[in-house]
Parts: sequence; C-alpha cells; structure tokens
Amino acid sequence: MMQDTHLIGVYRRHPVTLARGEGARVWDQEGKPYWDFLAGIGVNSLGYHHPDVDRVLKDASQLMHTSNLFWHQPGIDLSQRIADITDGMWSLWVNSGTEANEAGIKMMRRIGHDQGRYHIITMTGAFHGRTLGSLSATPHQSYQEPFQPLVPGFVTVPYGDLDALAQALAKWNPCGVMMEPIQGEGGVVVPPPGYLAEAVRMIHQAGSLILFDEVQTGTGRTGNWFGYQYEGELGPDLITVAKGIGAGMPIGGLLVAPKWAQAFHPGDHGTTFGGNPLASRMALTVIDWLDQGGLNHVREMSSKLEQGLGQLQEAYPQLIQAVRGRGLMWGLKTSVPAGSLVQQALAEGLIVNAAQPDVIRLLPPFVIDETAIAACCNILGTVLDQASRH
Ligand SMILES: Cc1ncc(COP(=O)(O)O)c(C=O)c1O
Repeated sequence: MMQDTHLIGVYRRHPVTLARGEGARVWDQEGKPYWDFLAGIGVNSLGYHHPDVDRVLKDASQLMHTSNLFWHQPGIDLSQRIADITDGMWSLWVNSGTEANEAGIKMMRRIGHDQGRYHIITMTGAFHGRTLGSLSATPHQSYQEPFQPLVPGFVTVPYGDLDALAQALAKWNPCGVMMEPIQGEGGVVVPPPGYLAEAVRMIHQAGSLILFDEVQTGTGRTGNWFGYQYEGELGPDLITVAKGIGAGMPIGGLLVAPKWAQAFHPGDHGTTFGGNPLASRMALTVIDWLDQGGLNHVREMSSKLEQGLGQLQEAYPQLIQAVRGRGLMWGLKTSVPAGSLVQQALAEGLIVNAAQPDVIRLLPPFVIDETAIAACCNILGTVLDQASRH
C-alpha cells in the first residue's frame, strides 16, 4: 500500500496509515484502533484532539505567521512564561529539536570565541539531531560516517563517567558540554545518581558551559518542567526544548541563562518560521496545561505506569531485564529483539517503539489515564506471553 509513494525513505515505516486520533488513541485508515504510547515520538503531549489545542488552531487564522522583523504578543508571552518557570532564562525559538541544538552549539561557540575555546564535549549514546552540527554532536557511527567530514571540534566521553569528563575538561578546555539528562534515543538511559549535579559543578569550575538537551525530557515529560531537575536546581547555562512543548506544532527553543542572553547579536542567528504566533500560542497552551495540574497528573500516571511495567518484569524476568526511566518516559530492556515485540504490540493495537535493538520505549501522551495504562500493560503482557512460549 503506502510503499508505493514518492516519499524519500529515511524511515522504516510500519505498514499502517494513521488517519485520526482522540486522547491517547489513534485509528488507522481501515478503522483499527491503537493505544498510542509513543505519541509521535514524544510530541503529542496533550494527545489527539485536545480541546485546548483545537482552540488554538481555531483562533490561529487571525495571525498565523509574521516575520521575526516584528513583535507579536504570543511570542512575548511565551518568553515571559519560560522566564517564570526557569528563573529568568531568555529564549530563542526555532522549529525543531535539531535546530534548537544548532542554535545552542552556535551560542556556546560564540561565548567561547574570544577565549579561543571551541571544543564541545558530548556523551556516548547521545542523540542531538540530524543536521550537520547536531549530527557532529551525535557520536553514532552509522549516522555520521556517510556524511564525513563533519563539523570539527566535538569530543566524546562515556556518559555517566565523571573521571572521563574531568580529564576531557582539562585536556580540551571546551567552550561547552552537551548532554541529555536521560538519554532517549540511546535507549532510555538514566545516568548514575549524583552524576548530573557533579558534572555541572565540574563543568562550571572549568569555566565551561553546560547545555542540557531537553528535547525529549523537557516540558513535563519526566514529571518536572525539565528532566535535569530530578537532581535539583543545577543552574544550566543553556537548555534546548522541542517535541512535547508544541503538542504537535513544530517548535523548538534555546533557553539561555540571563548572563548569556546578550551573547547573540542581530545577524548571529535567525529563522524565518521560528516562534511564529501559532507555534508560540501552542507552546503557551502546553505550559498552561502543565501548570494547572498537568505536571501532577504526569507524576500520578508515572507511578501507575511504573508499577504496571514492574509487574510485567516480575512476570517475565527472562524477557525483561530492566525497567528504567522517569515520569512518562520508560524503557524496557529486553533479552529478545525489541523490534519484533514492538511489531507484535502493533498487531495487538499498541504503539511503542524500539529505541535500541534491545529497548522498547514508551513516551505516552501526558493525558493518559488508568484505563490507557491498563490497556497498554495488558497488550504488553499478551505480547510477552507469546514471546515466552517461543
Ligand atoms: C534528545 C534529542 N535531541 C534532539 C532531537 C532532534 O529533534 P528533532 O527530531 O525535532 O530535530 C531528538 C529527537 O529525537 C532528541 O531526542
């Protein structure tokens, strides 16, 4: 069916054409329902057809886009709301996660420029995007190799290893360090307790900047505004966001501590679409939803989902080696290929994905309820039961 198109094949798509959604459910063209525990890879934070999202879309036609040569109220309001929830950070709006990271990489270079500091330390297993700067920060051989030469100056250290970070800081005198507070594409990898806080302390002591890539973990996903906050208020210099903040509207953002807000000057960066009124209003809507009880809801649902997944691990210890994550971001480390379990789940009416060959990832919409969680765990149970008989 859908293979017969002119869409360039950079994704291995499932043979399913999705047509509509409601809450945490989607239906394909043939009318088959699915519980969506992937949510457009962490994007549809408010699920499908949410009344707040619908309202923004309806009102948008008044002023959907204007260039960044003018001010508009949603953009001003969004930057104010971000400042309120981050202790005064400034924001620069773009259209995606990779673009947010491009902006962050440029800003770290801009700040380091006068001191001749340009190296950027990244982490093994990281994923920061596919454009050339972000790809250079994504140490993944098969993603990088066909596109050599990449942007120079990126150095990789093992994620979670403070000694290696200390050595690299001393050796390279970098302008900045980039990391995800929990690695998403890397397979939902949570670093050892205390790592983030100590890493930030060391990075700042070395006169370097810390950029937390919160594209996947940010704006509510882990039950806090930002993923790094499970280790306290660490005072990051830069944060990048995208995915869930737009609830399906493409928007990414670079958030910058007040002391660096003047580092970019007119002409240093730009984007035609970035932060347009429609995208800004959608982001404001998501922030309002999180603020008005949404964050609590994520935490409540998190403990229920964690419990359900834990029970699956107890029932199938030979198939599930670990359950890891926070909030509504979970990974099941499997001892059999995750891809085939994901396909089985799809056949049974559940959408999840294999973030790694041995990790099933769940990134459900924030609006899930206990019924959705029970349905998800039931289907996973069926799939694991079938696999255990092979
Ligand atoms: C942590 C992280 N950074 C950056 C990106 C890239 O975002 P985008 O696909 O919106 O460019 C992703 C996407 O999965 C991500 O998980």
